[in-house]
Amino acid sequence: MAERVPFDTNVITLTRFVLEEGRRAKGTGELTQLLNAVCTAVKAISSAVRKAGLANLYGIAGSTNVTGDQVKKLDILSNDLVINMLKASYSTCILVSEENKNAILVENERKGKYIVCFDPLDGSSNIDCLVSIGTIFAIYRKTSDDEPCETDALQPGRNLVAAGYALYGSATMLVLATECGVNCFMLDPAIGEFLLVDQNVKIKQKGNIYSLNEGYAKYFDPAVTEYLNKKKFPEDGSAPYGSRYIGSMVADVHRTLVYGGIFMYPANEKSPKGKLRLLYECNPMAYVIEKAGGMATTGKEAVLDVKPDNIHQRVPIVLGSPDDVKEYKAIYKKHFPK
Ligand code: F6P
Repeated sequence: MAERVPFDTNVITLTRFVLEEGRRAKGTGELTQLLNAVCTAVKAISSAVRKAGLANLYGIAGSTNVTGDQVKKLDILSNDLVINMLKASYSTCILVSEENKNAILVENERKGKYIVCFDPLDGSSNIDCLVSIGTIFAIYRKTSDDEPCETDALQPGRNLVAAGYALYGSATMLVLATECGVNCFMLDPAIGEFLLVDQNVKIKQKGNIYSLNEGYAKYFDPAVTEYLNKKKFPEDGSAPYGSRYIGSMVADVHRTLVYGGIFMYPANEKSPKGKLRLLYECNPMAYVIEKAGGMATTGKEAVLDVKPDNIHQRVPIVLGSPDDVKEYKAIYKKHFPK
């Protein structure tokens, strides 16, 4: 008879992990409450994503979001879930969502000290063809004692307390980055818990994959064009890089974290500021990648150093293995010295 794998009776769940980290940091418990709320919302979104067709959640809900993308029913459901869970955690005062034009101010009775910027369902144009999608979140502390207002959310990514994402892929994984590093938790649907599967994750020093929408090649600037040529026709005898692009940021960034390489959504002639949003797409991903030992740049500066001037602002982004990003930065500097 085959030997049975022993049942682990001491697994580290996400709840246990954040509780232990909170105690170690001698915190007030507010961040633990907040992360538990994110965890609950993500579990519910994961369940909705998995049974989308059956539960009649497919299709366009009849409106567009503030950045002009078509809003699907799942976007609305996910947004409501994240907002409701965060408000009910008594740990937040301002919420910035991709789906809401203005920042949401949490009512006084449920107010806490944290600001959360999030994209409840990123890559949602991929829902109908079952490509992986995700939820992205970034957590800041409110820095002033004044009444909370939208401008409190305009902090550079360097101020982040924690950030991460959930990937609804062939499994659901939650990646959490804090001061202590990057940890990955896999959802075990049998017990409805996220279990720690990869601890203190580090990105490869250099990868062999580049990832961007090459359909925009006509509009690329000379730095992007030169960089891509070097990857496709290396002059040092090395093998060309592989190309992978899902078109769903969470999936593309997660692959970059796990396999190494470079993910790019640079500025181009048609989108002079790129497409991806600083507060709830670029900053949280840049934080995860930096905490894993990688780099994230706009070309000009580190993404985490950009001072936001509005909550839905876009920035160009190039992130991934440090050697790959450094190579791109050097080419960028050659073409755009100032
Ligand atoms: O911002 C939404 C999003 O779907 C991202 O998840 C993804 O990286 C990007 O847009 C894809 O954009 P494009 O279709 O221009 O390549």
